[in-house]
Amino acid sequence: MSPDAPTRSAAPWWHGKVGYEIYIRSFADGSGDGIGDLLGVAERLDHLVWLGIDALWITPFYPSPGFDHGYDISDFCAVDPAHGTLDDFDALVERAHALGLRVITDIVPNHTSHLHPWFVDSSRGRHSAHRDYYVWRDPAPGGGPPNNWVSHFGGSAWTLDETSGQYYMHLFLAEQPDLNWSNETVREEFDGILRFWLDRGVDGFRIDVAQGLMKDPLFRDNPQIREIAPGAGNWASFNAFDHVFDMDRPETLDVYRRWHRLAEPRGAVLIGEVGITDPVRLTSYVAGGDALDAVFLLEPGWMSWEPAALLSKIRKMHREAPSRASWVLDNHDQSRSTSRFGGGDRGSRRSLALMTLLCGLGGMPFLYQGQELGLEDGLIERADLVDPIALLNEGAPGRDRARTAMPWAPGTGNGFTTGLPWLPAEDRPPGDTVQVQRLQVGSWLGRHHHLLEVRRRLPDLWSVAPEWIATGSDQVAALSWPETFLVANLSPGTHRVPLPAGDWMVVFSTVDRPADEPVGGEVTVPDEATVILIRT
Ligand code: GLC
Repeated sequence: MSPDAPTRSAAPWWHGKVGYEIYIRSFADGSGDGIGDLLGVAERLDHLVWLGIDALWITPFYPSPGFDHGYDISDFCAVDPAHGTLDDFDALVERAHALGLRVITDIVPNHTSHLHPWFVDSSRGRHSAHRDYYVWRDPAPGGGPPNNWVSHFGGSAWTLDETSGQYYMHLFLAEQPDLNWSNETVREEFDGILRFWLDRGVDGFRIDVAQGLMKDPLFRDNPQIREIAPGAGNWASFNAFDHVFDMDRPETLDVYRRWHRLAEPRGAVLIGEVGITDPVRLTSYVAGGDALDAVFLLEPGWMSWEPAALLSKIRKMHREAPSRASWVLDNHDQSRSTSRFGGGDRGSRRSLALMTLLCGLGGMPFLYQGQELGLEDGLIERADLVDPIALLNEGAPGRDRARTAMPWAPGTGNGFTTGLPWLPAEDRPPGDTVQVQRLQVGSWLGRHHHLLEVRRRLPDLWSVAPEWIATGSDQVAALSWPETFLVANLSPGTHRVPLPAGDWMVVFSTVDRPADEPVGGEVTVPDEATVILIRT
């Protein structure tokens, strides 16, 4: 049976819902120290409610030495003082729930900080109590790292520990040692961590690097599939290998089955950040219905404006997992879609046109803070970059441009902080802020708000599988439901699409259309625009 068949009497809470990613450091600073915090999030929940969001995902707010800005965690069951306290977290959950919002937290099981007490003890010596919590190996027979595995952020995935003469493994920074998931005790530790947050009322987890965790027991070399040019950056080096032995091991699903048994009875959703691109492999994480509940399709979040390729990728994923994909165009790891799709109004227009299509597919779309404002990347001086990718790879812009402060209001600090923002960037112009866009007719914020309202009013959009109608162009998608029709014209010219018999009216358009315009027989959609119609 397909994992999407409605087998339960009561649908899980997340079915058809819209998520919103909060990058904690840059969303709202309630304490005035220049770093976003839980207090700030709690103060801004009204914005999310107004926008029409159902669930917020908050990036890691746990104690972290900050080598990867929160993704190097030194205590999984506490709050970093920079982001507040556990009491702040409890108050946030309570307020969010009172407003009808769900709260999803980030869980980072692949690695810890090198300053986590487990790793501090693990590196004391070969016989330390926590040695086997991490992945330690002897050097290769001729010396050097045990195999050819490389880190996402550049260089070898192995670092030599001089004291013991062994190497430890890290898919990311040397300050982010990988946990050893073949060790049952590590699994038990994480059972406890999940329970800790479930007991505090969280509604689900976004699982970081969900394809990591298990490694090949024989630690074989990954096959190299491309040459690495001298001076190649981190991604070119990483993508030169077929990552069959260091990631995406089928045994990893056992971990998620175990988590499913913990989370499902509590109604909590498990959404995987599975960093692979093949929709078939991605779907294997959700196909059984007993492991992850949903997976992000990350690729549209880093592709540039390539309409045919974007549509083909999305359609493939939709075919494989009609209601278990989490759709994203923006997140804290990539250049914002407005910038990637050409910048300015044109970029924002393209981003909204594509987002509207994603809102017409089953599964859970996520907006990233500021996407609703049509924001471009923030402007930061090169000398102010702090992202390790930029620091380790000469010339790489890194991820900071997507991590600048959320612009709430015009003026210095953009209403994000009364202090000095942790990531110095140019203030945004007034027209980019929530305060101004709330009052402006036809603003990007207004359009996103309207889109989510239409999605709520037309449950077919997310609960009934649409038929994909041939449009004669690989840059134009048309989706048909019995009472609803959607056309995403991502091509550079106007496109006409025949409508099923009957009378139709446009209920949402990403660009202005004449009011009460009659639609019959066919709908004309301007370039790079999406419309939703209903039968009258
Ligand atoms: C994920 C996060 C990214 C982080 C990495 C390592 O990809 O989204 O920000 O650097 O995992 O934890």
